[in-house]
Amino acid sequence: MELQAIKVFQEIEEGDIEFLSDLEKAADRFEWIPDDRLTKISDLPEQDIEYRLSRLNKFNLVTGGMAKYEGYRILPAGYDTLALWNLAQRDILEAFGRALGIGKEADIYDAITPTDERVAVKFNRLGLSFKSLKETRSYSPKHGWIDASKDAARREFQALKKLHPKVEVPEPIAYDRHVLVTSLIEGEELSEVADIDLPEPVLDEILRNVKEAYKTEIIHGDLSEHNILTKPNGEVLIIDWPQWKPADHSEAEELLRRDVKNILKYFRRKFQIDRDLEEVLEEIKENSD
Ligand SMILES: Nc1ncnc2c1ncn2[C@@H]1O[C@H](COP(=O)(O)OP(=O)(O)O)[C@@H](O)[C@H]1O
Ligand SMILES: [Mg+2]
Repeated sequence: MELQAIKVFQEIEEGDIEFLSDLEKAADRFEWIPDDRLTKISDLPEQDIEYRLSRLNKFNLVTGGMAKYEGYRILPAGYDTLALWNLAQRDILEAFGRALGIGKEADIYDAITPTDERVAVKFNRLGLSFKSLKETRSYSPKHGWIDASKDAARREFQALKKLHPKVEVPEPIAYDRHVLVTSLIEGEELSEVADIDLPEPVLDEILRNVKEAYKTEIIHGDLSEHNILTKPNGEVLIIDWPQWKPADHSEAEELLRRDVKNILKYFRRKFQIDRDLEEVLEEIKENSD
């Protein structure tokens, strides 16, 4: 699957981006940006507005609709385009690649930097799933998917900055809006690994990293075999940190317990390794103050 924003990126002009940015600013105030406000919002003559709208429509970056009156809204691909444009301007991204993983709440693609490094680009899509769209019947501009997704990118970047390189996590490189760029990990999701030669040291290495993160006063909050990447040499990396909580959070203990429980449960079921949850938790909290 190719991302719409990547597909049309080569054809995008600076004028398209400027007009999209104007729409983005107005989106704070309008569910549908009214047709008759576009002159004021963009400061462009009518003819230019029509030209830009027809292009953005053709690229599937905006959509028109009828509320009380005719108006426009930026589609997720439009926000993707704005973020990619900025990341390219900042010399962070040079070329875009293929899908690495379509997750629960994000699409991850690989990309190349101007210095030819391969990176992972995470497009957050919080609350865009079919189910949650049905649940949030009224669209509220302030709490739409884009705001939640921007928060997620910012929070994950913040966590990775604190954790890297003490804890084995992807290196944070940059973020823009809802898009996060990190180093690319050539590994396999733990859940996908058919068998591990030496599961005990892998479990120990995961728990060592959980402890190291806890020392940094960070609790993952969504730890499972799906958010751990393993390499053939037994190295592990913990990914997907947007929901992290500080160690002094009121639910911190509960979240740490759940994180560790998930991992122990997986290793018990899959590798018949039996560890006592309370003992492991004690060991993680030891010497961490
Ligand atoms: N830095 C990375 N390098 C390589 N693959 C990654 C990286 N980050 C994520 N992935 C892949 O994309 C999947 C989804 O990413 P994740 O951050 O867990 O988002 P989600 O919230 O959608 O679960 C991961 O399970 C993994 O397979
Ligand atoms: Mg995940």
